[in-house]
Amino acid sequence: MCGIVGYIGKASAKPILLNALSTLEYRGYDSCGIAIRNDSIDIYKDIVRVEVMQKESPTLNGTTGIGHTRWATHGEPSSTNSHPHTDCSGKFAVVHNGIISNFQKLRQQLIAEGHVFTSETDSEVIPHMIEKYYDGVLEEAVQAALDEIEGSYAIAVLTADEDILIAARKDSPLIIGVGDGEMFIASDVPAVLDYTDRVIYLEDRDLAVITKDSFKITSDGTEIKRAEHRATWSKEDVQKAGYEHFMLKEINEQPRVIQNTIGDYLVSGEPSSDAEFKFDEELRDLSIVACGTSYHAGLVGKYIIEELHGIPVRVDLASEFNHGRRMIPTSMAIAITQSGETADVLSTLKRFREESVRTVAITNVPGSSASRVANDTIYTKAGPEVSVAATKSFIAQLISLYQFTLSCPGLHRGIRESLLAELRQMPNKIEQVLDGACRIVNVAKFLAKHDNVFFIGRGINHPIALEGALKLKEISYIHAEGYAAGELKHGSIALLQENTPIIAIVANDNTRDAMISSINQAKARSAPVIALADEDDEDIGSLVDYVIRLPRTGNMFTPVTNAVALQLLAYHTAKHRGCPIDFPRNLAKSVTVE
Ligand code: G6P
Repeated sequence: MCGIVGYIGKASAKPILLNALSTLEYRGYDSCGIAIRNDSIDIYKDIVRVEVMQKESPTLNGTTGIGHTRWATHGEPSSTNSHPHTDCSGKFAVVHNGIISNFQKLRQQLIAEGHVFTSETDSEVIPHMIEKYYDGVLEEAVQAALDEIEGSYAIAVLTADEDILIAARKDSPLIIGVGDGEMFIASDVPAVLDYTDRVIYLEDRDLAVITKDSFKITSDGTEIKRAEHRATWSKEDVQKAGYEHFMLKEINEQPRVIQNTIGDYLVSGEPSSDAEFKFDEELRDLSIVACGTSYHAGLVGKYIIEELHGIPVRVDLASEFNHGRRMIPTSMAIAITQSGETADVLSTLKRFREESVRTVAITNVPGSSASRVANDTIYTKAGPEVSVAATKSFIAQLISLYQFTLSCPGLHRGIRESLLAELRQMPNKIEQVLDGACRIVNVAKFLAKHDNVFFIGRGINHPIALEGALKLKEISYIHAEGYAAGELKHGSIALLQENTPIIAIVANDNTRDAMISSINQAKARSAPVIALADEDDEDIGSLVDYVIRLPRTGNMFTPVTNAVALQLLAYHTAKHRGCPIDFPRNLAKSVTVE
């Protein structure tokens, strides 16, 4: 949600800020803006994408500045609501990510004191409060302002008075990139990778005063040291590498993602010795929390853990869990979050910790908030995922859940060995799905002509129907619903007609007959049916209109191959419809507001 950057050094700030912002657009892209310090502060902001700003913005000279790419929360996307925001004098400019929950009260007070506001945003109170408290020391004025703010924030502050930047955070991510005679501020590591791999992760309530050669961090007024880390991702990881879209690149990376995530485990059958999480506890019960695509991974996790360990697994949407849901005692909670920054997931994790439940984060981002809140972390090692639609991070989450399930004590050795053998096949199985992509293109051409689609799955593939529908709607803007196949007849079948395709996941397991029955019910209502089926499923062809053939895979692992096929189907459908695949409207990849 909103990306913020800052630069202070010897080079021209504008191209660096815009380049850094372009890697943060996954956080929101309703508008963008920059402020550069010259004798005064020059601001340029508009409801355009960063790419347009790179081409069309005026020359802005100066070697210190801040920038922002916005996902609107308070006030529509407009030029005036875009960041940076300033105070009345124009002496301070601020970019903000987060939500200030008491902004109405602060705004009324400031207006009563004579401050004039130009935007509808919550963020604009910050520069006005800095102006109110400024008495020659910027750090003190910013701290005084933050002391009155309730809610979440990551901010970067620029002043016309001196060549410094201030960065501060609470419940929104922020890092400092350390260069040679230059420093960076960013919401996320990829923004600085073109310039440095030296990174400091700020903690909640940290405030940093940054010059081009140094920085000083305080926490509630007391000076504090934060460790410097080497970024594990490289700048090549955040480039398209010749692919038309990041999403296609990321789909194609999935065989390697599995290797990176659990390669050692595939070879030895033992979690790697440097694993951050020790699989040492027999499971008694488990709670899983997540949002969006990660929630669907959690649902698959429920199937495999309940099936193999025979223990109850509760899966909750973190956004639901936080608001009044009773905390049922559980011995372990897993939070699944690609970004490690999703606000609802973090609040849920904190609730579990308060109840002394052992917490494990499955996350893709080193140093993310989830990894710092949870007792233990399982890193998915998918590498940076740029496209807003999650693909490789989802597969990596599934693979981590398989590893978790197979590694926890209590599983019969023979069962474990045979499942491990099937897990070893998965990179190769995904390669085969990717090799068949051209056949999926034809089905996508057909699907692209429709406005409503149902995805149906059963058992372990029910979550994959949900995920397939989510993927299609978010990038192609086709209305899609994922259903447990048996539920279709309890209402939604009323919508089926000749222009409502059904995408049926036909797994070759004990759900097959029931799925064929659901297909027949759909065909009887003239709905065209596209089936995902095993390559050797001979009967299916005569029952449906299209078949997407997939390599035969062990029953427990069909969610992986089915998910990859549905990612490709969504991608090619969106492409036929001419949609902005990597950055769909209204979405953001990292949702740091509740
Ligand atoms: C956003 C993204 C989704 C993602 C969800 C949860 O809505 O657009 O792709 O699944 O957040 O994100 P997380 O980082 O917690 O997995």
